[in-house]
Amino acid sequence: MTRLDPVTDSRSLDERKQLLRISLVFVFSAPFVQNGALYFCLKEGDPLTEHDLMREAINEAKKGLGYVDPNPLVGAVIVKNGCIISRGYHQRYGEFHAERNAILNSPEDVSGAEIYVTLEPCCHSGKTPPCTDIIIQSGIKKVYMGSDDPNPLVAGKGAEILRKNGIEVVTGVLKDECDRLNPVFFHYILNKTPYVVLKYAMTADGKTAAYTGRSKWISNESSRLDVQKLRLWCTGIMTGVETVIKDDPKLTCRLENGRDPVRIICDSNLRIPEDSYIVKTAKSIRTIIACTEKADKKRADMLSSYGAEIVFTPEKDGRTDLVFLMKKLGEMKINSILLEGGSELSFSALKNGIVNRVISYISPKLLGGREAFTPLGGKGFDDPENCPKLSRPYITLIENDIKAEWEVL
Ligand SMILES: NC(=O)c1ccc[n+]([C@@H]2O[C@H](COP(=O)([O-])OP(=O)(O)OC[C@H]3O[C@@H](n4cnc5c(N)ncnc54)[C@H](OP(=O)(O)O)[C@@H]3O)[C@@H](O)[C@H]2O)c1
Repeated sequence: MTRLDPVTDSRSLDERKQLLRISLVFVFSAPFVQNGALYFCLKEGDPLTEHDLMREAINEAKKGLGYVDPNPLVGAVIVKNGCIISRGYHQRYGEFHAERNAILNSPEDVSGAEIYVTLEPCCHSGKTPPCTDIIIQSGIKKVYMGSDDPNPLVAGKGAEILRKNGIEVVTGVLKDECDRLNPVFFHYILNKTPYVVLKYAMTADGKTAAYTGRSKWISNESSRLDVQKLRLWCTGIMTGVETVIKDDPKLTCRLENGRDPVRIICDSNLRIPEDSYIVKTAKSIRTIIACTEKADKKRADMLSSYGAEIVFTPEKDGRTDLVFLMKKLGEMKINSILLEGGSELSFSALKNGIVNRVISYISPKLLGGREAFTPLGGKGFDDPENCPKLSRPYITLIENDIKAEWEVL
């Protein structure tokens, strides 16, 4: 198993070994610098495979993290006569795609070359012209692609156009790892609702705070930095009003040059304090407060005057309707949400089937206590047979914390 995570820079042992293998080859294979980038040639008999080259393209793709949203992360490398001659990635939303950048970056003619690209090349004009056009015009003879593009405007048509123009196309190279670059893009384009990541930090005995309510700190500093990267990755961050009342959180991205996610507070009756950091900064950091249709309209107006956007939902079990809210947020172009609990909202989100991925930071501490918080509150599910199930576990060590991730089935 190779750890390739679009969310963070953390790498598995396998991936590190893989990179080491590439760099060993690299040391013995005449590296050279061109246009400020490092290139290397493959000697005859070098063990670099299609997978190695696609991994290089994946690493290119990751450089766009935090800048390409709502577009997918995409990377490409061009190989000619056994050399990687050029690299490219989608750098910023609205700008050129990876394939075009790799072709334009190339210090030499790419005709007869092969290109490795993590996502099926697009064949429609959006903010930039179709990538299939430039690939055909460039004389590239073979395209290796990772993910299929589920965008109905592309979906198989990109590969078909290339083949019709005499270009050999190999599909599904490291597909799983390429797919992992863009779960948000794949989900949103098909469902038009945000991809929701439920995140929590807990002790090894499953507590998110001590019985005293103290929760600083459950996870280590590096794990908390990792969470900041999640905040960069997601368009929105969501929590319940009790967390705002108890902790007065900022819910901002503290990475240097990181953009803040849109803050979404679930607050059925608009109990959020006016002097909370969230309300006081709502003019400068986009803030959405979701309440039920029964909430006081004057209070809604008052919160709007502070800069918050109020979204009214029908009432469900006396609270905001999360399924309705997801549709609404999708319409507002929020394609991904980091759900940073509390336990009440987290349980409700799972119960309502809006969670796509769970990320748990597990620290080597034991808090105990019947009254201490656990990640999921609410009533709980009544039977292990009837509760949400998780799949595709992914485990990484962050110093002495364990980061465990799953997809929700
Ligand atoms: N360890 C971690 O990763 C982590 C992360 C975040 C928070 N926390 C801790 O969690 C504690 C607060 O957790 P909590 O469980 O008491 O509160 P919470 O989940 O933050 O907020 C719950 C409140 O959200 C409102 N809400 C609105 N719509 C809802 C819906 N559809 N379903 C459920 N709730 C909805 C409800 O109040 P209304 O009925 O008034 O709307 C509910 O009481 C804090 O002390 C904080 O430190 C820990």
